[in-house]
Amino acid sequence: MSTEPFKNVIMLPQTNQLTGLYTIIRDQNTKRSDFIFYADRIIRLLVEEGLNHLPVQPTTVETSTNQKFEGVSFLGKICGVSIVRAGESMEQGLRECCRSVRIGKILIQRDEETAQPKLFFEKLPEDIAERYVFLLDPMLATGGSAAMATEVLIKRGVKQERIFFLNLICSKEGVDYYHSKFPDVKIVTGAVDPCLDENKYLIPGLGDFGDRYYCL
Ligand code: PRP
Ligand code: URA
Ligand code: MG
Repeated sequence: MSTEPFKNVIMLPQTNQLTGLYTIIRDQNTKRSDFIFYADRIIRLLVEEGLNHLPVQPTTVETSTNQKFEGVSFLGKICGVSIVRAGESMEQGLRECCRSVRIGKILIQRDEETAQPKLFFEKLPEDIAERYVFLLDPMLATGGSAAMATEVLIKRGVKQERIFFLNLICSKEGVDYYHSKFPDVKIVTGAVDPCLDENKYLIPGLGDFGDRYYCL
């Protein structure tokens, strides 16, 4: 796994705990219930890391000991947007951290023959242009699906600087392609894999995330 820094790629700290979680979900012998449990743990870490990068304002409160505490509070509103199907697996992790968060959906499917993305529908919060957007999809392979989804957000008035793309594994070439189009979007990830195979699957990767989470 590469840990080279890329501009606007926020990597989770590469701890033994995190490597252990990836070892389980990358293992082809991991059964679906464990895949879901351990993928969910990584998703939670990605959401927490994304939240670390939102702007805050100084906020002072009085504690139960009648003392002042000089803290911060979040500035601005957020929403999630999942790229259906696999991205929906990340919605619960976002909800666990941000109660009653609004979540939009963009249905994009990669053609199995050509690996080209196709957009089917979008349903997004009306006021999305005023929000920070956590774009959710566990896999960034060629970058085509994420780029298509980001195009939809930008057409709806969301600024690149307000988009955080959360994913579990991205490829080096996918990051380069995506950032050649959207240099100011922050990618929050736990792993950057070195390459893609002839079917445009991540190598070493973990296979088809959506199938492993929902079907197999
Ligand atoms: C997967 C994945 C991404 C996309 C990544 O979805 O969840 O959306 O492929 O590949 P790319 O970077 O080359 O575009 P897929 O279209 O297989 O659908 P799924 O969510 O139903 O599994
Ligand atoms: N989609 C996946 O689920 N896995 C890959 O490796 C590439 C695209
Ligand atoms: Mg998809």
